[in-house]
Amino acid sequence: MVLSMGPSAIAAKVALLATLLISAEALSIAPRAPGLNVRISVADGLLNSSTDGRISLLFAPAGLDPLDDTDVTSSPDLFFGKNVYNYHSRDTAVLTGDSGQNVRIGVYGYPNVSLNDVAPGDYTVQAYLNIYEKAVRSDGSVVSVRFPCGDGQPNVAGFGSLITPMTNVTISGGHQTISLHFNDSVPYEVFNGTEIGACRQGNYVDSKNLKHVKIRSAALSKFWNRDMYVGANILLPAGYQANDTNTRYPVVYSQNHWAGGDGAFRYSTSASFAATWDSGVINGTNTTAARPTPKFIVISFRHEAPYYDDSYAVNTANFGPYGDALNDELVPHLDAMFNTIGKPYARIQEGGSTGGWESIASVIYRPDLFGSCFTYYPDSLDFRRHQDIYLYNTPNAYYREGVAVPSIRTVTNGTEIVEATTEMENHWELTFGTSSRSALQWDAWQAVFGAQGLNGYPLEAWNKVTGEIYPEAVEYWKPFDLSHYVTGNWDNAKNLGAVLKNRIFIYVGLADTYYLNEGVEKFQENVESFGGAGWANFTYIAGAPHGGNYNRLEIWTYLELLDKWFKDHAPGGATPLGDNVTSVASRGNYWEETIARAGHQAALTRQASPHLDVYKKLIKGSVGRWDPGVALTAQWKVDGRLQGKSFAVKQGQTVPYEVKGHLGWWKRSFQLLVTGTKNGYVDETRASQIVKA
Ligand SMILES: *[C@@H]1O[C@H](CO)[C@@H](O)[C@H](O)[C@H]1NC(C)=O
Ligand SMILES: *[C@@H]1O[C@H](CO)[C@@H](O)[C@H](O)[C@H]1NC(C)=O
Ligand SMILES: *[C@@H]1O[C@H](CO)[C@@H](O)[C@H](O)[C@H]1NC(C)=O
Ligand SMILES: *[C@@H]1O[C@H](CO)[C@@H](O)[C@H](O)[C@H]1NC(C)=O
Ligand SMILES: *[C@@H]1O[C@H](CO)[C@@H](O)[C@H](O)[C@H]1NC(C)=O
Ligand SMILES: *[C@@H]1O[C@H](CO)[C@@H](O)[C@H](O)[C@H]1NC(C)=O
Ligand SMILES: *[C@@H]1O[C@H](CO)[C@@H](O)[C@H](O)[C@H]1NC(C)=O
Ligand SMILES: *[C@@H]1O[C@H](CO)[C@@H](O)[C@H](O)[C@H]1NC(C)=O
Ligand SMILES: *[C@@H]1O[C@H](CO)[C@@H](O)[C@H](O)[C@H]1NC(C)=O
Ligand SMILES: *[C@@H]1O[C@H](CO)[C@@H](O)[C@H](O)[C@H]1NC(C)=O
Ligand SMILES: *[C@@H]1O[C@H](CO)[C@@H](O)[C@H](O)[C@H]1NC(C)=O
Repeated sequence: MVLSMGPSAIAAKVALLATLLISAEALSIAPRAPGLNVRISVADGLLNSSTDGRISLLFAPAGLDPLDDTDVTSSPDLFFGKNVYNYHSRDTAVLTGDSGQNVRIGVYGYPNVSLNDVAPGDYTVQAYLNIYEKAVRSDGSVVSVRFPCGDGQPNVAGFGSLITPMTNVTISGGHQTISLHFNDSVPYEVFNGTEIGACRQGNYVDSKNLKHVKIRSAALSKFWNRDMYVGANILLPAGYQANDTNTRYPVVYSQNHWAGGDGAFRYSTSASFAATWDSGVINGTNTTAARPTPKFIVISFRHEAPYYDDSYAVNTANFGPYGDALNDELVPHLDAMFNTIGKPYARIQEGGSTGGWESIASVIYRPDLFGSCFTYYPDSLDFRRHQDIYLYNTPNAYYREGVAVPSIRTVTNGTEIVEATTEMENHWELTFGTSSRSALQWDAWQAVFGAQGLNGYPLEAWNKVTGEIYPEAVEYWKPFDLSHYVTGNWDNAKNLGAVLKNRIFIYVGLADTYYLNEGVEKFQENVESFGGAGWANFTYIAGAPHGGNYNRLEIWTYLELLDKWFKDHAPGGATPLGDNVTSVASRGNYWEETIARAGHQAALTRQASPHLDVYKKLIKGSVGRWDPGVALTAQWKVDGRLQGKSFAVKQGQTVPYEVKGHLGWWKRSFQLLVTGTKNGYVDETRASQIVKA
């Protein structure tokens, strides 16, 4: 933006420009584009009021359903996305090929950024609108996000999303306009359960030994300023009698992704496994005589959240107090409803991948609640390796020393094939949502580990387009770097070195599909440098990819291993878990600390206006403090008039101004204006104080 006129004119121009941008967005005045334009209107009655949201526009090869495969590695689709604001019936959204890489106001595409790159040919095209709702959170931050609606937050086509018919088009390669029409919405799946709030926030139908419980969380509802729910699927062991309150059971908390519906998603949420668990009959063979069904309860949480299909089960500045909601509201509620033992020695956390991280984090932050974790191929335990990104000591998340950082691999007979790079995945995600709202993995991590930005959305650790890492944003991740956290609280009041010893079991395959073995290895190296070999139990299996149970054990053998841990650590067992290692003094991840450190107030506190210091004829201007990634331009104002052109400045830079001429009795006034811009942020100009020199 070139500014070369008087201040009020500039203000007017800036205001006008802002109005134009906003109205071009809201009214969707079509810019004249040389290439491909897609105009999308809305049928009357589909949107009751105007809404913010994200349009996903999918081009599939002719005749294919664009939703058949939207995966980054295998999809034949071309993806485009664009935010809409105050979108409503009689409005037309226009996606144009000439808006380039302007994530903020324009179209972003994958694998090609621009609509103009769609090669001539026949396609089946369809658009979806992901509808956002605005939330004014209790810390004062305001965000527009999609709230849970019983579908596990898919990146596209969630329940209630608007949808256009699939449309066959032939792309000519020249100037062309395609018109699509939202005339329907994605149907809500039949919900046979009991609704307890709105939008399918209730419970599924129970069976003999698979029960469902959902509660309104006071902590989450307070933070989000609306009703928020957390739930659980409870798998009861064979022979469980509700009225027999003298027989009490340990609980395995099985962490995972969205555990909605029957899902047939692993044993803890699958009705068929529930039947197996009840009868002891596995694939037609009655195992009960030889291998009795373990007598514990298995509980999976349902904590679908804004930003992802689950909250990561901890307190975070972007998701809110999910750790408290699950551990301090839901767990006690379940302990009161079911015949649990309800003591740390009778609570194991287990899970893989996302659930792997959740299981170990739950024990590390809450050793007062949970006895042990069996954690497999967890999301990064040490951010020196976030998957394969060297987060603390490389400048870019997508390239390291000129080589693309891999994200997904297959390893066959020792030969590694990279299926996707971090850049590919992040760009693909960006088509489904800006400001970390794609509900996909890399965005979810930004929301879990990152602070709130000044704009209320996750303060991303790197630029989603370029990969440039922002060390100041990364710094906020450290309390969630479990390796850093454990060793940082090794022998202080939390005493984690002694308290967590022998309570952590981790497995990962050395050919982990997402390179998660690297974070485990770094974690091991770090904790063993403090606690010595054997402080925690690590298993690596050569050549093994992501997947399977802990140590790749057959399911029944694995459940028996958990059963043995319970027996060994119960009072009177071989190695009882002492009260001295389950003290509340070792607790961490407190909500109040988390939100104070990384919430909206912290975002406001880290800002500063430009400031001038006068040294006789030299004025030194600091550009102020801005969120990481905000690009800055500066301009001097002398005696109330803007001087010359604005110029780019860097954060932390000092801008000098040499006052020419005599220092007389007549002093001139100086002021520095700095304008910051960042994707997802409203442009902002801040002024220094006025000094005389
Ligand atoms: C619009 O209102 C109708 C009637 O109240 C309701 O059934 C429908 O779900 C609403 N649609 C949206 C998108 O809110
Ligand atoms: C779209 O094209 C596919 C094949 O290219 C064809 O099978 C299908 O019937 C077409 N749909 C319509 C609505 O014309
Ligand atoms: C579009 O992306 C594909 C895959 O990355 C690439 O091969 C192709 O050259 C790109 N096309 C244009 C016009 O940029
Ligand atoms: C949407 O439009 C398509 C194509 O015109 C039509 O086949 C379909 O029935 C419409 N859907 C609704 C719900 O009106
Ligand atoms: C819900 O009930 C209907 C009708 O009884 C049944 O057809 C359907 O399978 C049920 N859905 C689920 C998810 O249980
Ligand atoms: C619990 O109820 C069952 C039948 O519903 C009964 O057979 C059993 O004796 C009861 N057990 C206790 C401990 O009351
Ligand atoms: C039952 O058999 C199927 C097919 O062989 C197998 O995939 C599955 O793991 C078996 N189930 C159990 C619980 O062993
Ligand atoms: C399996 O075997 C046990 C022990 O022999 C027996 O009590 C039980 O009834 C059998 N279960 C089935 C479903 O046959
Ligand atoms: C991997 O090695 C095994 C044993 O040598 C061989 O049978 C198999 O074909 C190899 N697989 C591939 C994909 O090369
Ligand atoms: C807890 O008590 C046990 C048994 O007395 C002891 O071995 C262990 O070191 C104690 N741990 C802590 C953290 O005090
Ligand atoms: C680690 O844990 C596994 C599973 O519980 C066990 O088989 C193994 O012996 C343990 N290793 C050590 C060194 O304790």
